[in-house]
Amino acid sequence: MTSIVRLGAIKETARFQEHLRSLGVKIPCDSEILRGADSPLLNSKNVDEVTIGNRIAINPMEGWDGTLDGRPSEHTIRRWRRFGQSGAKLIWGGEAVAVNHEGRANPNQLVIGEHTREGLAQLRAALIEEHNHVAGSNTGLQIGLQLTHSGRYCRPNSHGKPEPRILYRHPILDRRLDLPADFPVLSDGEVRAIIADFHRAARIALELGFDFVDVKHCHGYLGHEFLSAHTREGNYGGSFENRTRFLREVVQGIRSFAPKLQIGVRLSAFDTIPFRPDPARSWPGKPGPGIPEAHEELLPYRWGFAVDANRPTQPDLTEAVKFLALLEQLQIHLVNITAGSPYYNPHVQRPALYPPSDGYLPPEDPLLGVARQMGATRELKQLFPNLLFVGTAYSYLQDFLPHVAQAAVRDGWADAVGLGRMTLAYPEILWDAANGRTVEHKRVCRTFSDCTTAPRNGLPSGCYPLDSYYKGSEMAVKLAAAKKK
Ligand SMILES: Cc1cc2nc3c(=O)[nH]c(=O)nc-3n(C[C@H](O)[C@H](O)[C@H](O)COP(=O)(O)O)c2cc1C
Ligand code: SF4
Repeated sequence: MTSIVRLGAIKETARFQEHLRSLGVKIPCDSEILRGADSPLLNSKNVDEVTIGNRIAINPMEGWDGTLDGRPSEHTIRRWRRFGQSGAKLIWGGEAVAVNHEGRANPNQLVIGEHTREGLAQLRAALIEEHNHVAGSNTGLQIGLQLTHSGRYCRPNSHGKPEPRILYRHPILDRRLDLPADFPVLSDGEVRAIIADFHRAARIALELGFDFVDVKHCHGYLGHEFLSAHTREGNYGGSFENRTRFLREVVQGIRSFAPKLQIGVRLSAFDTIPFRPDPARSWPGKPGPGIPEAHEELLPYRWGFAVDANRPTQPDLTEAVKFLALLEQLQIHLVNITAGSPYYNPHVQRPALYPPSDGYLPPEDPLLGVARQMGATRELKQLFPNLLFVGTAYSYLQDFLPHVAQAAVRDGWADAVGLGRMTLAYPEILWDAANGRTVEHKRVCRTFSDCTTAPRNGLPSGCYPLDSYYKGSEMAVKLAAAKKK
């Protein structure tokens, strides 16, 4: 592969557009940013008789910074304030909140329960207060809570101690977790207990005033693992109907006591086989470029969702389309499209120039990763015009994010542009651009991946290089030491 051009070095939009053409990637990009009433990003959108005040969305961004019993800390509250500061009218999920202790992805993940009500209410209130300050009012502001169970990636008690709860045996991921041959899969009874936890969680979210809940189906966590449970026996595996039973039972239960609570689904709409650093090009402490795990013996590949079974390095949207048809049938109109998993194919999930400590060098120009997620979202939006689509993976676009976001919304690639990492570095980038303010070059996320490397080393997530809150802090000192190891 030829060397990757650093986007930070490209100064003009015309040059960026030329760069996209030279790579042959399809990413729409406007030359001029429109302001105020002319900006497509500031148009409202109605869904299910609810108005979403603009097309800027904040994607869920967890901070690994809650208390050990699952309540927010001052860092969490500060992050939610910044979600409000973004001017976005759609707050998708805030961050992953576990429906029970065992289902936490780390010992500092938020939990939803009686003991955390007050803390979660405080997060919502801080966000609204900041939003009012920036946007003048909270008319059209919709705030959801992302409900999760981490399944295969549970680490509820210690960063160093995985406690996976798996739905089926996976030939590659089991090996990575060192699971013995007799490691148990969750029983159907245990699945039903988790479904009841989702119901209890949704009731609390409703009582706390959240506008919707996201029944998370992405990134390799439990909801997503159901979709690839082709080899599981019993009621929750095998056929498409069985693999989506979890979703249907969660939704039915919520509807029975909260018919008015909106439900959304964040979906990894496609995937690939897990990647790893190429051992032939890696050195101690310096992972090489990512390559797919060997899979010749595993064809047809039966351990993925929306993966081509015969060429599992490639997506296949057939089942994603079936899944969205099911959402429509269930009267779920809020959809957030993401892809893959940060654990086994981070270049697919969060395109970056610099890998996190447990990742690998990019196997492709990260713009291809952006284009892949944007293209899939567009294709699905065209098939399901009545669903509201939030698009993902825009942060790598850096200074050109506003130009691409504006074109994407205007041309129907997505209904709203979701910001992930950029939220940690520069939450109000789209709000600033659409309101005619100059984008601050030095605050733009450069995909250094410290916000992923920090939690991989047991530290809170945040934009260590660019956000003054972390600079010089004890957390930053610890991160620097961890990176030197
Ligand atoms: C530090 C960090 C925390 C994240 N937390 C969550 C989360 O709680 N739930 C979720 O669905 N996605 C989470 N994501 C994924 C992002 O929402 C988003 O999909 C990803 O970063 C790609 O979008 P971007 O290019 O705008 O960063 C997280 C990503 C990062 C880097
Ligand atoms: S640490 Fe900051 S610059 Fe690096 S990827 Fe995260 S948000 Fe972007």
